[in-house]
Amino acid sequence: MKNNRKSSVAKVIRPAVRQATAALPVVPAKSRRLVFGGKWDYAPAPESSSHIAILPRHDLFIDGRFVAPRSGKYFASVNPATEQKLTEIAQAGAADVDRAVRAVQEKSRELAILESMDGGKPIKESRDFDLPMVAAHFFYYAGWADKLNYALPNRRPQSLGVAGQIIPWNFPLLMAAWKIAPALACGNTVVLKPAETTSLTALRLAQILQEAELPPGVVNIVTGAGETGAALVNHPGVDKIAFTGSTEVGKQIAAATAGTRKRLTLELGGKAANIVFEDAPIDQAIEGVINGIYFNQGHVCCAGSRLLVQESIYGTVIRKLRDRLQTLRVGDPLDKNTDIGAINSRNQLDKIRELVHCGVEEGATLEQSACRLPAKGYWYPPSFLTGVTLSHRVAQEEIFGPVLSVMTFRTPQEAVERANNTPYGLSAGVWTDKGSKIFHMVNQLKAGVVWANTYNKFDPTSPFGGYKESGFGREGGLHGLLPYLQPD
Ligand code: NAI
Ligand code: MG
Repeated sequence: MKNNRKSSVAKVIRPAVRQATAALPVVPAKSRRLVFGGKWDYAPAPESSSHIAILPRHDLFIDGRFVAPRSGKYFASVNPATEQKLTEIAQAGAADVDRAVRAVQEKSRELAILESMDGGKPIKESRDFDLPMVAAHFFYYAGWADKLNYALPNRRPQSLGVAGQIIPWNFPLLMAAWKIAPALACGNTVVLKPAETTSLTALRLAQILQEAELPPGVVNIVTGAGETGAALVNHPGVDKIAFTGSTEVGKQIAAATAGTRKRLTLELGGKAANIVFEDAPIDQAIEGVINGIYFNQGHVCCAGSRLLVQESIYGTVIRKLRDRLQTLRVGDPLDKNTDIGAINSRNQLDKIRELVHCGVEEGATLEQSACRLPAKGYWYPPSFLTGVTLSHRVAQEEIFGPVLSVMTFRTPQEAVERANNTPYGLSAGVWTDKGSKIFHMVNQLKAGVVWANTYNKFDPTSPFGGYKESGFGREGGLHGLLPYLQPD
């Protein structure tokens, strides 16, 4: 990529330099004599500019095309060595700048809409979370591309080769960015397989990569379901597999790559505890709990799907949660007022229903929003379950839908024990007024990310990944480079 960029820059600069050189005034040889003992001289060596064609006029380049300026104005570009006018350049007015800026934003908007149409997530989220994060990840890892020697000092890092990447359907374009950006920054090539229910934005990204003149073959996108993914995992030409998805498939991939030379990173499920202490700012905590579980319909690996409330404030928290639940707007993902969109697939809806049914059978109490659900499509009302115990399936398994399991605790130690009582270890949340309590909890929670008095906050500079059955390897930050590099 770098060479390509360099050579295209050279292509632009070379003729300009030639033109400028050719236009130099030809000074009589005698007067250019250099005094090296009074004998040496340079003969004039003008570069020929006869084959350089400069168009008399240059328009603006907006949205992949050359277009005349709305301002109608052009200005002269002059050779400073001769004062000769070379060409006319379009003078972009405010309207032209606006058009160009909008052309850039247009792509982000198009991708956001496509993402919401394809995956069901509210446009508010695809527009204000997914797309800005996608751009931030590419931007962040682009910065590392020529600084890898500083990432691993004295280790002369090498790329691995071909990275096979398999991603899920909950953050389709964002997961593509998380996977592709560090792989390319480390000089690898990529074969990416999007999830079968959400392939569209990855394919649109392919077109954008084409427009950006990424050399052919550097990023390849193969669409299909589990079989296609398995074919990629088992392909002997693949040097590294990066997978985000269910723990079940993650285990299969770990087995398939065991004993081969393939490197592996897995980002799997989660059953995060969102822990609210009695000294927490309650209203903020309620917002964090709502965001933690209902963001993206709960299709979030790090969702705060288990609420652990200190017993002394249980009544207040449940009352506020119940009230807030009724204000959530469920419906058309493309409506900018929508908080909760469609469930990604019929399969996922069936899984949510089955687990909630099981929770009620096992003795939990179901509370749901009274919202009206659209007649067509896959929908599930925002819900929570109280009276959940540690042994319930809804306390142990990933529901991956807008359903919160509520439990209580009395002491910080009990909160830690309950929070860690899961095969997963991806994330956790702590809500308290006391900084010391935050540090105490953070050190004991077995989770890759712990948020304090906030939830679902992401930054490309910050590593993300799991403990235990939530997987291994980190994405984001300096740590996110390591799975794509050979240190020596
Ligand atoms: P999944 O793990 O089957 O799908 C994720 C990706 O893996 C998709 O691209 C899929 O085509 C691919 N895949 C499936 N089988 C494969 C195989 N044998 N070899 C290679 N690739 C394969 O997840 P699914 O079935 O869509 O969802 C089931 C449950 O998994 C969800 O209800 C949720 O609990 C969990 N899940 C967790 C995610 C997370 O980010 N932690 C993301 C997606 C699902
Ligand atoms: Mg599956």
